[in-house]
Order: sequence, then C-alpha cells, then structure tokens
Amino acid sequence: MIKQVDVLIIGAGAAGMMCAIEAGKRGRSVLIIDHAATPGDKIRISGGGRCNFTNINAAPQNYISKNPHFCISALRRYTQRDFLALVNKYGIAWHEKTLGQLFCDGSAKQIIDMLVTEMRQAGVELRLRTTIDSIVREDNRYLVDLAGDKVRCTSLVVACGGKSIPKMGATGFGYDIARQFGMKITDTRPALVPLTFDENTLAPLKPLSGISVDAVVSHGKTKFAEAMLFTHRGLSGPSILQISSYWREGDTISVAMLPGVKVFDALRVARVRNGRQALQTALSELLPKRLAQLIAENSGIDRHLADLTDKQLRAVEKAVNEWQVKPAGSEGYRTAEVTLGGVDTDGLDQKTMEAKSAKGLYFIGEVVDVTGWLGGYNFQWAWSSGWVSGQVV
Ligand code: FDA
Repeated sequence: MIKQVDVLIIGAGAAGMMCAIEAGKRGRSVLIIDHAATPGDKIRISGGGRCNFTNINAAPQNYISKNPHFCISALRRYTQRDFLALVNKYGIAWHEKTLGQLFCDGSAKQIIDMLVTEMRQAGVELRLRTTIDSIVREDNRYLVDLAGDKVRCTSLVVACGGKSIPKMGATGFGYDIARQFGMKITDTRPALVPLTFDENTLAPLKPLSGISVDAVVSHGKTKFAEAMLFTHRGLSGPSILQISSYWREGDTISVAMLPGVKVFDALRVARVRNGRQALQTALSELLPKRLAQLIAENSGIDRHLADLTDKQLRAVEKAVNEWQVKPAGSEGYRTAEVTLGGVDTDGLDQKTMEAKSAKGLYFIGEVVDVTGWLGGYNFQWAWSSGWVSGQVV
C-alpha cells in the first residue's frame, strides 16, 4: 500500500518544522521525516543550549548569497517580529544578549517543544529514524521510498540542511536531490567557523591560547567588531566566525586588537611620563599581559620607552591595530555552524521556494544558497523560508 499525503518534508529541523506547521494549519496532510532520533537537534545545541532564535535587526544585508536579493521577499513576509510573537505566545522568556541577538532565558528545548506542539496541533505526522532510498517523479507527483515504505506526495519539501557537523547527521543529501532534478549547486564551504594557522604562524601564538580581546577583524571592506579568541589551533570568537564566511584560502585578514585606541599617542604619553617603563609593561596596561609581551618581543624593540623613536612606536601601533595574518585554513565542517553556498537560487522562486524546473519540489533553510551572519540570522532564514513555502505547498 502506498501512503498518500499532500506534503512530504525531508528534515525535521527549523525550516522543515516551520513549513509543516503552516501547511498543516492550511488543512494539508503533512508527513515530516528525519533520520535523527529527535527533531530539531541543531536547535537543541544552538546558542550554547539557549538558542539564539532570531535577530531583531535581521535584514537582507546580513545574508550572503550569489543573489543577495533572493532572501528579501521571504524575510519581509515572515519577519523576526512574527517569530517573536510565536515565542511570546508560548510564554518563553527571552533576552537580547548583544547586537540584537535574542536568546531563550531557559533552554533551546523550549523552542523545539513549541514547534513540536504547533505541529501536533496542525495535525502533522512526524516520523523519526527514517531514511530515503529513492525519489521518483511521476507526472506532477513524487513517489518517495522511505526504506521500503512508499509515500506519494504532491509537494516534496527538501529541508535537510547543509553539511556542517556531520557527527550530528548532516549530509549533502539535499544537494543530491537538487542535482537529481537538474538544479545547480553553488560552491559550498564551511562558514561561521574558527580559522587555523600553519605551524610557523601558530608556534609563537600558542601561549596566547584562551586570551580574548574585543577586536575589529577585516577582510577587504568587510569588518566585524566583536570578540576574538586565540585558540591552540588559530583564532576563533564571534568576529573570526563572521569573517570566516568571507575569507578564502590564501587571503590575509587584518585585526585591530585595540580598536578606537590611538596606540601611538598612548605610548608617546607613556614615554613622556615614564620613560623607564618597558614597552611590554606599557602595552600591558592596554592589552592582556601575555599578548602585550608577545607584541613587544615580536617588535624586536622591547626596551625602555625613552629609547624608542616615534617610528618604532608607530610600528608597535601597526602590530596592535593592523595585524595582518594569513590563516592556513579553517576547522572545517566538523565545527562550522553553517554551510556557505547551496542550492542555486537562480533555480528557485523567491516567493515560494519552489524549484523552477520541477513543479511541487521545494528547498528551504540552510540547503539553499542563503547564509546568514552569526547572531540568529540563520534561524530567521529557516523560519522565513519555511513559512513562505508552508503557505503554498
Ligand atoms: P537543520 O540542519 O536544522 O535541519 C535539517 C534536518 O534534516 C536535521 O534534523 C537532519 O537530521 C535532517 N537530515 C539531514 N539529512 C537527512 C537525510 N539524508 N535524511 C533524513 N533527514 C536528514 N543559527 C542561529 O540562527 N542561531 C544560533 O544560535 C545558532 N547556533 C548554532 C550552533 C551550532 C553548533 C550549529 C552547528 C549551528 C547553529 N546555528 C545557529 C545554525 C542553525 O542551526 C542552522 O542554520 C539551522 O539549523 C538550519 O535549519 P535547517 O532546518 O535548514 O537545517
């Protein structure tokens, strides 16, 4: 017996569950499947367990895509305020951490419970530990083989995310489905990911592991002012994760470790006031001690301030606020929060997320070539793209 449903959704993550809720509320029969044992696993681990579920400032400019206009329609139709209204309806307490980032006060599980409750109320059937053997298109319908159990649907929604964190079951399955239907995939790469150094760059920096500074990190004209963390493999922290989405192998990034501080002027004042002070000591009044020590040592002029020329102080300023560093790579999909790139938006209708070449086939969430900044933007894309597709599937 072949089961018939209106809508089959592959992936019970953020985007898939939102689509299921909306389609179910419209009276469509909806089956949502996932190969995991529980729905919304990434929501559960997100935001350090508190889920940064949206960003109050989310706007199209916070997203990277081959077509930066593609996300506009969905983000406008289902906004961060709409999702917040749902969160408030469930009485989930939240707070703004920084830069418009909204987190649960309690646990990310509250967001999953909310979505699962909404799905249940909308009559959605959730099937876990379920994999797909094949998808066949028959006229205007799809026949999907769920490891022996066959399901026929009018709308097939691909919401199975990207390749980040394979340990949690991330696969490139959504891209395979797109290819099966002749759609293009843009280059994919790990994003929102720590950057790593080669041994030569890393060796002198190893003692700094664990030190964090409020930095401005730039790549070309793109810059992010957030914390940066030295790690035992390279650099991490929000500003680095952000810039990792723009950085490419061979590129240099520029780091200001004391943004807004005129280091040259500060050192000149220190030289007048206390010429016998060592450069390292003067710097450690501005920066963490170990970092100050390293910068002074690397400058090759770790002497008393009185012995240093203006030119030398300028060079120190440059080392602090224009540190040019060339990462060798990134930590890869193992730790990347998202996948940059994905199903080419040229092949999708921006209002509905339907494939232009295959009626009834939809792609939503991270599988699509729309990647948000760090800070709740990626979930907002999942909610918005899931919601718009849920209105039409
Ligand atoms: P998502 O990955 O959530 O869901 C896809 C679902 O498909 C999964 O349940 C998976 O099991 C299933 N699936 C995959 N392949 C399958 C197959 N072959 N068969 C069946 N099922 C399959 N974003 C944000 O905005 N705020 C935050 O705080 C964070 N924090 C964060 C922390 C960490 C550690 C990570 C890794 C990521 C984040 N993110 C984030 C990013 C965010 O988690 C991500 O953008 C969304 O979960 C994407 O939602 P989707 O529904 O598209 O995919």
